[in-house]
Amino acid sequence: MGFFDFLTEEIAIDLGTANTLIIHNDKVVVDSPSIVAIDRTNNKIIAVGQEANQMQGKTHENIKTIRPLKDGVIADFNASEQMISMFIRNIPSLKKRFFTPSLRMVICIPSGITEVEMRAVRESAERVNGKEVYLIHEPMAAAIGIGIDIMQPKGNMIIDIGGGTTEIAVIALSGIVCDKSVKIAGDVFTNDIIYYMRTQHNLFIGERTAERVKISIGSAAEELENPPDDMSVQGRDLLTGKPKEIMISYREIHKALDKSIIRIEDSVMETLAQTPPELAADIYNTGVYLAGGGSMLRGLDKRLSQKTELPIFIAEDPLRAVVRGTGTVLKNIERYKSVLIK
Ligand SMILES: Nc1ncnc2c1ncn2[C@@H]1O[C@H](COP(=O)(O)OP(=O)(O)O)[C@@H](O)[C@H]1O
Ligand SMILES: [Mg+2]
Repeated sequence: MGFFDFLTEEIAIDLGTANTLIIHNDKVVVDSPSIVAIDRTNNKIIAVGQEANQMQGKTHENIKTIRPLKDGVIADFNASEQMISMFIRNIPSLKKRFFTPSLRMVICIPSGITEVEMRAVRESAERVNGKEVYLIHEPMAAAIGIGIDIMQPKGNMIIDIGGGTTEIAVIALSGIVCDKSVKIAGDVFTNDIIYYMRTQHNLFIGERTAERVKISIGSAAEELENPPDDMSVQGRDLLTGKPKEIMISYREIHKALDKSIIRIEDSVMETLAQTPPELAADIYNTGVYLAGGGSMLRGLDKRLSQKTELPIFIAEDPLRAVVRGTGTVLKNIERYKSVLIK
């Protein structure tokens, strides 16, 4: 412990493709969409997070909104750096400090990002006063957040269904034994709904509307035990050009999503098939854990359970499992040294 350590603050960041979360002093202080709004005329960022999210789909030619991490890769380095730095600078408990403290941070990144992108994230973090910056892979953070003892010689399977990617991983002895990152997750589900409405109902709907439909009545199963009520959906009639509303049931959304769910099922089966037998035996006994916002899709757990013939457990508060795990690592850096990315 150095003399100036009282000037150091610690933060844990889940840099998600859809949502960025930050823990500071054991509290979630940022929980915002990973979106930035940019003024095209001067390339300045005008909003991040919730505020930028509200502009989505409603911009004019001088404003654009981008999701810098959309497909699990960094689409725009500059925008992602500015987003990270604005989120950090807006943490209320740090904002009122007289001068910016130096930061010790653990950042969880999507598994699909490249070495170059990792370095970019690290450098961005250093530029916002990151004195010690550690990176960790998403499935590892999710496992720790779920409460799994990842250091044991025991296999555990985690499936994290986020916005841009689904990460499937088998973890044992503090390492990722086999994993798969597929670009079928929440965003694809949302697009499936847009496509379905257009082709089946001649209704053109926006992304935010489609996401609302997904969250309200989305289903991975044809039959649900507690079915949600039908929902009214508004958009533009593609034939007449007029605004229009129709009623939609969860069964239709199941049809819209089915192809994508099958692709997730296939990836899970492939990962299981690559799992060494001793670890497969462990997974047979303990089951599979789900995290990420996409895991809340109705009937998905049951469907995966039928496909794999394994028990499936959804993490408590699945949207926050990763940041919880990242926070745990931050508090026990020495203990978790081996899971940090070198
Ligand atoms: N109840 C829900 N049902 C289905 N999908 C959901 C639900 N809640 C959130 N989502 C979806 O989860 C995704 C975001 O999950 P998250 O774990 O935050 O992603 P990431 O880690 O990639 O940022 C979004 O696509 C969102 O639409
Ligand atoms: Mg995530």
